[in-house]
Amino acid sequence: MVRGILKRSGRAFMAAAFLLVALPAVIYTFSLSPPLARTGGFGETTCAECHGGTPLNGGPGSVTIGAPAFYTPGATASIPVNIQDSSSDRRKWGFELSARFRNGRQAGSFTAAAPAAVQTSGSGIQYALQQQGQNLTGNSFTFTVNWTAPADGSGGDVVFNAAGIAANGDSSDSGDHIYTSQVVAAAPAAAKISGGGVVNAATFVAAPNNTIAPGALVSIFGTGLAPTTAGAAALPLPTILAGTQVTINGIAAPLIYVSPTQINAQAPFELTTGSALNVVVKLAGLLDSAAEPVRVDAASPGIFAVTQSGAGSGAILHANFSLVNSGSPARPGETVLIYCTGLGATTPAVKTGAAGNGESTVNLPTVSIGGQNARVDFSGAAPGFAGLYQINAVVPTFTAAGDYEVIITIAGRQSRSGVTIRVQP
Ligand code: HEC
Repeated sequence: MVRGILKRSGRAFMAAAFLLVALPAVIYTFSLSPPLARTGGFGETTCAECHGGTPLNGGPGSVTIGAPAFYTPGATASIPVNIQDSSSDRRKWGFELSARFRNGRQAGSFTAAAPAAVQTSGSGIQYALQQQGQNLTGNSFTFTVNWTAPADGSGGDVVFNAAGIAANGDSSDSGDHIYTSQVVAAAPAAAKISGGGVVNAATFVAAPNNTIAPGALVSIFGTGLAPTTAGAAALPLPTILAGTQVTINGIAAPLIYVSPTQINAQAPFELTTGSALNVVVKLAGLLDSAAEPVRVDAASPGIFAVTQSGAGSGAILHANFSLVNSGSPARPGETVLIYCTGLGATTPAVKTGAAGNGESTVNLPTVSIGGQNARVDFSGAAPGFAGLYQINAVVPTFTAAGDYEVIITIAGRQSRSGVTIRVQP
């Protein structure tokens, strides 16, 4: 834009001469921070108003905003704005980000440290933006700003708009790649557990036959269960992940994985058995979910399936820890390791959330393979995992090759049908 004016002659030259006086100050401002209200959201133009190179969003890259799926009132979240561009000649990076309710009003507030900064427009909208273009040869740059969510959810959803520039570093507004994007952080609402959504993590058996057992791995399905996806980093398992907590009859359950729609947790060993124990998902700063009842039995056996769909080929290993399958079938007389959950208490007891180490189950299971009784050599906590159990059983005699159904019975409860082992006589 500025360049175009300087190239002209005649009357335009006069204008240019006038501009030259004003220019240094203007250029100085741009080098530090872009002008406000150029995110492309809420009717704003974008950096492409001045910057040229490729058409808006026409370059080999993008800008992404790392906002949460929904916001927690009053909580401060770190929001990365990442600009990436695969061309080899990008040298300078810049951005601008806004957070507004759907009615256009400012939502929450930004704070930022260099190289990002925060400026407020005359109409009261805050913009997080680069303090100055960031010099870095490469294919991506991330600016991080802190965003404190509104004190309550009455304003509704928050719309984040960002514009990002992957510039060529020539200190002009030409030859640059401009990108925009938008994400919505939904208004906060209590987590919602689906009806019958608490199930054995191995079987996924649906209500009304969904039962769990003390110490078992369970999956919880629903919506708004966590603002982001997070996994436990170490053992013993934590009871809070990404601000999400699960209680079963008031006892905090160790968490393996949380996401907006699914949680994998361990039922505490401390649970008493009963037909309607309440599972509640609690999110920091929000109302608790409605309680979802689940039946807790002394045992609720489930064999993990290789596809993690509850049925089909079981997670069953040879003694050398390689998987039993059609390419490597089990032989009659061989000892196989059956991985399962829900076998209940062990002796000595394993602490809730802690890794097992071969402690035997209090109740002894029977195992049937293809309708025949299989000798059980061991039943206990799988070493190195929380909530995972292992049964070592001897494959009975068969005369024909096939996928034979494996059923565990313990404390009067049977594992579901449809989990198989490949046997080749
Ligand atoms: C009103 C015109 C205008 C708008 C709008 C504008 N810029 Fe610029 N920008 C310039 C000019 C002129 C320069 C070159 C002079 C300078 O560096 O100050 C520049 C330079 C830059 C540079 C350095 C470029 C390089 O190759 O060295 C970055 C980075 C940058 N702008 C980021 C942005 C971002 C991000 C936006 C949108 C949020 C934006 N600008 C919007 C006029 C503009």
